[in-house]
Amino acid sequence: MPIETSLSVAAEPPADVDLFAVPYTGDLDVPDLPLPAAELFAHYEAKGEAGEVIEVPVARGSGVGRILLYGVGDGSPRELRKAAATLVRRVKGRKALTVVLPDGGDLSVFAEAALLAAYSFRIGAPGKTPVRALTFVHDGDEAAIRRGETIARAVGLARDLSNTPASVKTPAWLAEQAVAQTGLQARVWDEEALAADGFGGISAVGMGSANPPRLIQLSYAPEGAGKHVVLVGKGITFDSGGLSIKPNDNMKFQKTDMAGGAVVIAVMSILAELGVRVRVTGLIASAENMPSGSAQRPSDVITIHGGKTVEVLNTDAEGRLVMADALAYADATLDPDVMIDIATLTGAVRVALGAGVGGLYASDDPLAKELAESGEHTGDRLWRMPLVDDYAPALKSAIADLANVESGSTYGAGSITAALFLREFTGGRPWAHLDIAGVGRSSVDEGTLSKGATGFGVRVLVDWLSGQA
Ligand code: BES
Ligand code: MN
Ligand code: ZN
Repeated sequence: MPIETSLSVAAEPPADVDLFAVPYTGDLDVPDLPLPAAELFAHYEAKGEAGEVIEVPVARGSGVGRILLYGVGDGSPRELRKAAATLVRRVKGRKALTVVLPDGGDLSVFAEAALLAAYSFRIGAPGKTPVRALTFVHDGDEAAIRRGETIARAVGLARDLSNTPASVKTPAWLAEQAVAQTGLQARVWDEEALAADGFGGISAVGMGSANPPRLIQLSYAPEGAGKHVVLVGKGITFDSGGLSIKPNDNMKFQKTDMAGGAVVIAVMSILAELGVRVRVTGLIASAENMPSGSAQRPSDVITIHGGKTVEVLNTDAEGRLVMADALAYADATLDPDVMIDIATLTGAVRVALGAGVGGLYASDDPLAKELAESGEHTGDRLWRMPLVDDYAPALKSAIADLANVESGSTYGAGSITAALFLREFTGGRPWAHLDIAGVGRSSVDEGTLSKGATGFGVRVLVDWLSGQA
């Protein structure tokens, strides 16, 4: 379910609203307050920090209304996000909230965070619903607010796709969603076309499932575009591990193993609206990784698109197999200037960076720098990890060009060796890889995050693409 909260912008505060939020920065003049603002602040020992909200009851016609005095801290994007998210969470269950926006600062992040804090995903009876309608009081240019709204709704789409149960989101369903949600020109390979065109990775991972695999290609080609960027997303709709089956405890989280693919779909869905100037092709490599009589076996040798052979020593290292197909295809056929892939690839990256920072790998220093900076601005934080060439022998196979995992643990470094595996299929082009296995899912319902899928990657990729020409 998309973010259901509406957002409107008004130049003047409407009279007598029940719930009215005003930023406080010190010299505040709110006519209806029962006491001077300074006295209220002193009483509540309020400092004006982001996330602080003082609720003041005021007379409203026959009843009681409330003015929410909210802090904005230093007014940085980070603090504005916190302020907006706290406000919206505070009024959960209410119909409407009018918010006087802070002076200055990035209003797009304020809008984005307010709407993200109103995200919820439920199947069945609704819980306490997020506030239905937000009105922002602002007399300047609305464009930044609307940009934030567009991005938040795209993050909401990515979350929805990832939160949808795997019984619903088969690869074929994901392909339908990709086409319907983006409205872009699309090409979809079904299982027969995949086999015919030599996509041995996607075919092998998908063959154990009753829900056959798909490769989805979406094309955005604005007039006069110079650069061509290819985005590749991992679209494993459920990762049981296959015959190298996962333990029961955490298997349930693997319905979000298509989070990278969801991010690619969500980003592609707003490129036109945001006026992105470069050509972008999105590829989503989608399969369900299941154990069965038709599943691939540990020890099978498969052939990736373009001819490299891989000995599959562990069927749970399936993400790199489907991603390899898509990257090799992009390199051979699409002539991209830049390739960026995004995948819930390894549990190891969560060990390294935790749930708040995504792993960034790149073959190109300027690209790495730009992405890390975009990550910092947008709150999708990335940390560059090294592609350690000395670890490459981990992927040697006795019988094939590559093995999909290290046998033994001489080298370790699971996230790095996975990235090294992907690099083999990039044809030496400028390439970046985002390992989002740690950040793709949240265990807390707090701030702009809701429990479940995070949509991590939408904001950083949109920001980076918007800066390209
Ligand atoms: N989808 C998983 C990675 C993952 C783990 C995502 C936890 C989200 C949360 C991936 O396909 C996987 O199973 N990776 C293995 C690789 C190993 C077999 C080399 C892993 O991380 O254990
Ligand atoms: Mn796996
Ligand atoms: Zn996986």
